[in-house]
Amino acid sequence: MKKFSVVIAGGGSTFTPGIVLMLLANQDRLPLRALKFYDNDGARQETIAEACKIILREQAPDIDFCYTTDPQTAFSDVDFVMAHIRVGKYPMREKDEKIPLRHGVVGQETCGPGGIAYGMRSIGGVLELVDYMQTWSPDAWMLNYSNPAAIVAEATRRLRPTAKILNICDMPIGIEGRMAQILGLQDRKQMITRYYGLNHFGWWHSVEDREGNDLMPALRRYVSEHGYIPPSNDAHTEASWNDTFAKAKDVQALDPATLPNTYLKYYLFPDYVVAHANPERTRANEVMDHREKHVFSACRAIIEAGHSAAGELEIDEHASYIVDLAAAIAFNTQQRMLLIVPNNGAIANFDADAMVEIPCLVGKNGPEPLTVGTIPHFQKGLMSQQVAVEKLVVDAWEQGSYLKLWQAITLSKTVPSASVAKALLDDLIEANKEYWPQLG
Ligand code: NAD
Ligand code: G6P
Ligand code: MN
Repeated sequence: MKKFSVVIAGGGSTFTPGIVLMLLANQDRLPLRALKFYDNDGARQETIAEACKIILREQAPDIDFCYTTDPQTAFSDVDFVMAHIRVGKYPMREKDEKIPLRHGVVGQETCGPGGIAYGMRSIGGVLELVDYMQTWSPDAWMLNYSNPAAIVAEATRRLRPTAKILNICDMPIGIEGRMAQILGLQDRKQMITRYYGLNHFGWWHSVEDREGNDLMPALRRYVSEHGYIPPSNDAHTEASWNDTFAKAKDVQALDPATLPNTYLKYYLFPDYVVAHANPERTRANEVMDHREKHVFSACRAIIEAGHSAAGELEIDEHASYIVDLAAAIAFNTQQRMLLIVPNNGAIANFDADAMVEIPCLVGKNGPEPLTVGTIPHFQKGLMSQQVAVEKLVVDAWEQGSYLKLWQAITLSKTVPSASVAKALLDDLIEANKEYWPQLG
């Protein structure tokens, strides 16, 4: 069996150990000959990498491992780039969330003005990774988790049209895992689902079992009462995520025929979200206090003890999806997966050049999107507005245009007026001077 070489870009990410563990657990499906980490923050990466080095030495000493901040070393001789960078790291996420809240607007990592600000930082970072890959491993594929995926996907579509990059999101599979629990199924792969939308902005319109029986009526009934909180809710889920899964009940009421992505709450109930937010302590603070502390202290414990049993690191669904995707490309499996791809007629009554999240068959030559058909006015109207926001952000980045970014923020359904949008934009420019192109 052929063996592959992978570089994880954003080696210092809190998700890196989970991906490494998942790669190790899947050596029968995606055998590795080499694994590299790349990050532009050497110190942050070192802690994660030294712990992973110990895990690799214990479980797979044959995999050649190294970590570096040198792009040429990182991107030479690789088959896959698994990317999950966060330009500006958590301190900038905190600003993305807190600045809009000061203006009474939703403050969220990927939605509304915070997501727009993050997009303006991410575009350059991700394009740089694409360029490294195209220079040193032109046959490789980049599997990209870096957010905000919708804006990043529009930027790569437009600015790197020949790049072999696939943008993905773990939210739909996370929700599908919950659907499976609600239905009493062993796992989400026992369901065949149909979904359409933009990233963090979509709907399921069909869920069937492997025999083709319709599971939507039971799911619709359950979600309309409990949202995506399964009967035996796992105690691990943090309270803020629990609220989001529960709120899906109200989101679903707007179109009871479908099942919504949880992120729609930010667009459909922004007043509720703002009223329930604490402007002094947002999700970024929770993540820094919980996931980041947990992952880094587990890594430090492993390094100190010299063996992996000293620290608890978890394997998760998030990681399994990227392994599925790499295996589909590596072995031409034609697995059906949700990806963010150019619409190109798949949704018949939607813009051909919009980046949409739809099921695709994935093989050696990339994704083959499946047809969705015609979508209703409600979804189409919401998606048209949101896709225009995403395109305007990329216009603003490309042209250095203050006006385009003001239009983008004004058009976001989370923002009440052009004057609020302008005040917000001015604060975001100040906070992001190190990262954004100059706007004129
Ligand atoms: P993190 O801050 O722990 O990790 C990000 C790493 O990227 C850091 O080590 C940072 O130094 C590095 N980095 C930043 N800019 C870089 C650049 N230009 N070049 C190289 N490295 C760079 O963040 P995290 O919470 O682990 O999340 C990582 C990313 O994964 C984020 O973009 C997050 O939004 C994304 N994510 C996406 C999904 C999805 O559904 N698409 C799911 C989970 C996480
Ligand atoms: C989901 C989304 C990601 C997002 C993440 C945030 O997984 O699909 O796009 O980055 O949630 O989770 P966090 O725990 O960092 O708030
Ligand atoms: Mn996502």
